[in-house]
Amino acid sequence: MKVLMVCLGNICRSPLAEGILQSKVDTTKVTVDSAGTAAWHSGEKPDKRSIAVAKKYGIDISHQRARNLTVEDFELFDKIYVMDRSNYINVCRLAPNEKAVAKVEMILNEVHPDSNVEVPDPYYRGDQGFEKVFAMLDEACTIIQKKINQEVK
Ligand code: 4NP
Repeated sequence: MKVLMVCLGNICRSPLAEGILQSKVDTTKVTVDSAGTAAWHSGEKPDKRSIAVAKKYGIDISHQRARNLTVEDFELFDKIYVMDRSNYINVCRLAPNEKAVAKVEMILNEVHPDSNVEVPDPYYRGDQGFEKVFAMLDEACTIIQKKINQEVK
């Protein structure tokens, strides 16, 4: 099972989603990665505030480096989770076919099915924004982990 977390810059939300889900699954059986639809921050570490909030909850994401989403990702990954509607549109624009589009899901739809609730972009907000994003992603990743465990058992 291979899961890709996608946001805009790949420095705030999707690195947290990657680290949180990795902390909950058997990483010998499940691959979790993240990418951004924009390449502005490619090669950079996650935002300091994402590194800090993850560390507070015992997760080290400081080794991650931002990368741009590629068309190959639609072949490599089974499921692609996006954070907001804008990510969804950008990812689907790159998807090579209908099968690829079907892999894309808004991550909070795992918590609130079919409601398209967004994980807000915390980049221009204070530390509280990152706490809130962590809590939202942790709730979603707990549900994703349960689903994955049923599949990889
Ligand atoms: P992310 O947040 O998509 O959660 O990584 C952002 C990071 C950087 C920018 C915007 C959002 N930016 O405009 O550089």
